Amino acid sequence: MNVVPRELMTEIPVSSADFRGAMRRLTGGVSVITAGRGKDITGMTVTSVTSLSVDPPTLLVSINRDASSFPLIRRYGAFGVNILAADQLDVAERFAGKGGLKGADRFAGAQWVTAVSGVPLLVGALSSVDCEVEDIIERHSHGIVIGRVRTIKNSVRNAALAYWHGQYVAVDQDEDVARLAEVSVPARSRRGV
Ligand SMILES: Cc1cc2nc3c(=O)[nH]c(=O)nc-3n(C[C@H](O)[C@H](O)[C@H](O)COP(=O)(O)O)c2cc1C
Repeated sequence: MNVVPRELMTEIPVSSADFRGAMRRLTGGVSVITAGRGKDITGMTVTSVTSLSVDPPTLLVSINRDASSFPLIRRYGAFGVNILAADQLDVAERFAGKGGLKGADRFAGAQWVTAVSGVPLLVGALSSVDCEVEDIIERHSHGIVIGRVRTIKNSVRNAALAYWHGQYVAVDQDEDVARLAEVSVPARSRRGV
């Protein structure tokens, strides 16, 4: 692998606004992270969940160290990942802090079950994943939390909730495939296929 030596790198000043602008263009799947147990629970909306490895099954999520979930994840050594369906926009907004709700109050209005680790998991999520904390790497304002997947509950539902250009968008396999078919037909006929 060729690695560019540090001294040869040109320093290009990047403003926070430029960086935010670039990240707004990145479509992210929306999940709700849950943490804690019993009445000592909280959670937050995230787009930073990423698969880390399949064997062993691990994922990572980048969490602001000031977020209320961070100390609970560390204390209990577990967290839940709830991959949201398109019709769970209200859950996404509540867990992003809309309406000023905090902690256990964010869970009202939706159905939850308790995972083996003790964290709440959302009924009707596209997928609910129970994770044990394997490692937390603190870097800058955030902690990269690595979770070892303990249990998974997949739903048969399809339409996902994504975030792009500062707004929530529905990704619906059936509708999107139909739309793609519509636009691809004229393209093909133009080539005389
Ligand atoms: C679509 C969306 C994605 C977000 N993704 C992240 C994320 O990946 N990591 C993070 O730390 N905060 C993220 N946030 C911000 C948190 O959801 C928000 O700050 C939350 O209220 C923090 O929880 P707290 O109020 O309990 O501290 C995101 C917010 C939105 C609306």
